Amino acid sequence: MSADVPVTVAAVRAVARDVLALELRHANGQPLPGASAGAHIDLALPNGLVRQYSLVNATGQATMDCYQVAVGWDANSRGGSVWIHEKLKVGQALRVSAPRNLFEMAPEHRRVLLLAGGIGVTPIYAMAKACAQQGVDVELWASARSAPRLAYLEELKALLGQRLHLHADDEQGGPMNLTERLATQRWDAVYACGPAPMLDALTAATAHWAPGSVRMERFKGAEQPASERQPFELVLQRAGLSTTVDAHESVLDAMERVGVDFPWSCREGICGTCEAPVLEGEVQHLDYVLSPEERAEQRRMMVCVSRCGGGRLVLDI
Ligand code: FES
Repeated sequence: MSADVPVTVAAVRAVARDVLALELRHANGQPLPGASAGAHIDLALPNGLVRQYSLVNATGQATMDCYQVAVGWDANSRGGSVWIHEKLKVGQALRVSAPRNLFEMAPEHRRVLLLAGGIGVTPIYAMAKACAQQGVDVELWASARSAPRLAYLEELKALLGQRLHLHADDEQGGPMNLTERLATQRWDAVYACGPAPMLDALTAATAHWAPGSVRMERFKGAEQPASERQPFELVLQRAGLSTTVDAHESVLDAMERVGVDFPWSCREGICGTCEAPVLEGEVQHLDYVLSPEERAEQRRMMVCVSRCGGGRLVLDI
């Protein structure tokens, strides 16, 4: 996605401890492209960084007056969170991409569990609103290190009432135990967004659930241990180029090294921008974009993180 929509920061407000909500409006006052719940935008910052943020107010409209996103303070920030928390002011001109949804709700899911951890509440809040609008039977389990850290808590209480279950780690003596709670599949699907340990626990707790009934969005891609990374030959068929992808570099790094300018955004395997068609090779998928079925097809890959398990990878590029 290219961040080519000019926007202005119309409002900045705190919606929880260490969480800022931004309201972005088109710089020329035009309506913005709409999106369904779970969608995100790329936000291009003046410091050159491009970051992905879920749209809190996307519930399926054709157009939107503004985009609302929320950004948590992250002490380990690679520059996006810190810049927004320390430098961003109302009136700042920015650029965003059109929305893209890699975390879409399936309309056939009529009994839905939503699971949010920390700042992962942003797409989940949009989903809760969409469920309420569409008459979907929804329950939301929201967790955070402490209750004041959970963004949109009052709004969620007003929206869901008894169907909101809050878990504050500091009050409960640790994270939510998902194994017991999810032993029986009482919902058509669970949609979850939160930190990696929570999503790993969800994966383990729902291993026996029906295929396709566990959907999640991660903040960060997987890291493959250096010892498991092997070099391989990369062939870019249409460009007529080939090179070796070293163990320390990505396919995208290697493409750039030989002069191929390929679109990318997150470089973490979570946004889907760098998807490339595969002609040949055994792909090791390390992204969080493709579904298990799409991975098994071996027809496409995210070149920023995924690699080749064999000696040769041929892309239709
Ligand atoms: S650049 Fe985002 S998935 Fe590769």
